[in-house]
Amino acid sequence: MAILLTGGTGFIGSHLARNLIKEGHDIILFDKYINYNRIKDILNSVKIVEGDVNLWNEVVEVISKHDIEDVFHTAAELSVKAEKSHATAFKTNIEGTFNVFEASRILGVKKIIFTSSLSVYGPKSGFPIKENSYRDPTSFYGVTKVFGEIIGMFYHYKHGIDFRCARFPVVIGPGRRGEGATVTFSTLIEKAALNETATIDIPQNTMLPILYIKDAVNFLISLWKAKRVKKRIYIVGGVPISMKELIETLKKYIPNAKINIEIDEEAERVAKIWTLLTTLVVKAGQEKLYRNIEDINWKLKYTSIEEIVKDFIKYVQTHKDMYIGY
Ligand SMILES: NC(=O)c1ccc[n+]([C@@H]2O[C@H](COP(=O)([O-])OP(=O)(O)OC[C@H]3O[C@@H](n4cnc5c(N)ncnc54)[C@H](O)[C@@H]3O)[C@@H](O)[C@H]2O)c1
Repeated sequence: MAILLTGGTGFIGSHLARNLIKEGHDIILFDKYINYNRIKDILNSVKIVEGDVNLWNEVVEVISKHDIEDVFHTAAELSVKAEKSHATAFKTNIEGTFNVFEASRILGVKKIIFTSSLSVYGPKSGFPIKENSYRDPTSFYGVTKVFGEIIGMFYHYKHGIDFRCARFPVVIGPGRRGEGATVTFSTLIEKAALNETATIDIPQNTMLPILYIKDAVNFLISLWKAKRVKKRIYIVGGVPISMKELIETLKKYIPNAKINIEIDEEAERVAKIWTLLTTLVVKAGQEKLYRNIEDINWKLKYTSIEEIVKDFIKYVQTHKDMYIGY
């Protein structure tokens, strides 16, 4: 019996894989664009399968061939890419997600953990937000995440799959790649830790709710391991922080950090959506909620931007070969 991680060589997938391996689990990383660099240190401890969630046969094959018991479904096209090409995001995030659920049903997978996002909310959600608040996505990415949540609940009710879902804020940490507001918060710290120049493509008043990768991975593992869950979908709390505050904090640890500013129009648009969402959460006095979820035995460990930045820099500087030049 093995555990499948779709998008397994991605940012969250690779950190999750590392932790699952430490616990002795047999895991399969299934990914369309395999990033060997991100999994350099665990290459000998995982099985890697190159494949596309959008291709039915490949999804069926990986699940049946490896006797998969549970799936962490993290494969997705992320926000800015999904805004630039709705069609690509539709194929991966909607058709691909359907393939994962349907193949899992047919082949007897027991549990599916899905990584959703606070981007399922929007101005009409009503703040403070709750798990059952009205979903009002203002991005195509958010639309695809709503689909993932709904199909997950359907497969749970109708077919008995043990569906569990994390509605994450913005996750930052070493190895995050891609475009846009949420990525810039990560690359700024990573580049500075490597003494490289970081490019900021969003305004400094951009505000995001941040969750450090170590907390995100612990959350997914706690959610997966919990004997029983009170909810099927959990909001996961984070730390609201602006780009300006992030730069100031970074400079406490790396005073000569090299930063280049080149605003990108699409990244700025996505940044505005996040800033609005974060402001509404803070205004509703909600920023400290969902940091301690007792029923799955999870507690946010990195509760301040200082703690996050400090650990992030340390991690990159002690794993330089995984990040330099990539
Ligand atoms: N990073 C965040 O801030 C954040 C926040 C909320 C939710 N999430 C969700 O968590 C998951 C992982 O995000 P991440 O930050 O690790 O992103 P990522 O881009 O690093 O990882 C996604 C992985 O999916 C793979 N992939 C893309 N299309 C595929 C396809 N058609 N078939 C197979 N694999 C495919 C990519 O190659 C990549 O390795 C995603 O579902 C994302 O929506 C992320």
